[in-house]
Amino acid sequence: MSAQEIKTIKGMVAKRFSPTTFTDQPVSDELINNMLDAARWAPSSYNEQPWKFLVTRKGDENFQKVYDALMEGNQNWAGNAPILMVTLANDNYARNGKPNRHAWHDTGMAMGFFLLAGVEAGVQVHQMGGFFPEKIERNITLPEGYHPVAVAAVGYTEESAEQESRTRKSIQEIRV
Ligand SMILES: Cc1cc2nc3c(=O)[nH]c(=O)nc-3n(C[C@H](O)[C@H](O)[C@H](O)COP(=O)(O)O)c2cc1C
Repeated sequence: MSAQEIKTIKGMVAKRFSPTTFTDQPVSDELINNMLDAARWAPSSYNEQPWKFLVTRKGDENFQKVYDALMEGNQNWAGNAPILMVTLANDNYARNGKPNRHAWHDTGMAMGFFLLAGVEAGVQVHQMGGFFPEKIERNITLPEGYHPVAVAAVGYTEESAEQESRTRKSIQEIRV
């Protein structure tokens, strides 16, 4: 796929996958901030932007704490990523304190913007629901009102056979 093709949204979607191996190449703070800038522009209910992203780097105390909160199957590969992130959502609207039942939906969408923004640069994101959120809440001081939604491993990858084994439902199956 040419660099020009990857720059289209369809190109980014085609190139994205959830890797279980990462190279040692560090991911710069500048690139992470570029990806966060894309996340900022995701739509959200009442433009609440109920998300935050905890970014930890290998070697940091918090990286180890996030790693320790992963289920064993994810620990087997995710510790090789240079960055572990936790997406956080505020379950209540800041505007009126009422429950925001769209908070996790919107946070997932922001993560979708974030991960697509890394593809052109060669950075991939592998999200994980297999973790113990209570361990993260216990061991890391999170912003008031925010709770862990998912963990994500972030890093550069080589071209991978993992991409070839990916399957999807057909359009007919998802269109009702
Ligand atoms: C919310 C969420 C939770 C996930 N949890 C895990 C997980 O715990 N472990 C894992 O290896 N992959 C996990 N995945 C990755 C999915 O398995 C993966 O996205 C799916 O198989 C499709 O593959 P692809 O991302 O390469 O297209 C998760 C993905 C999402 C979006």
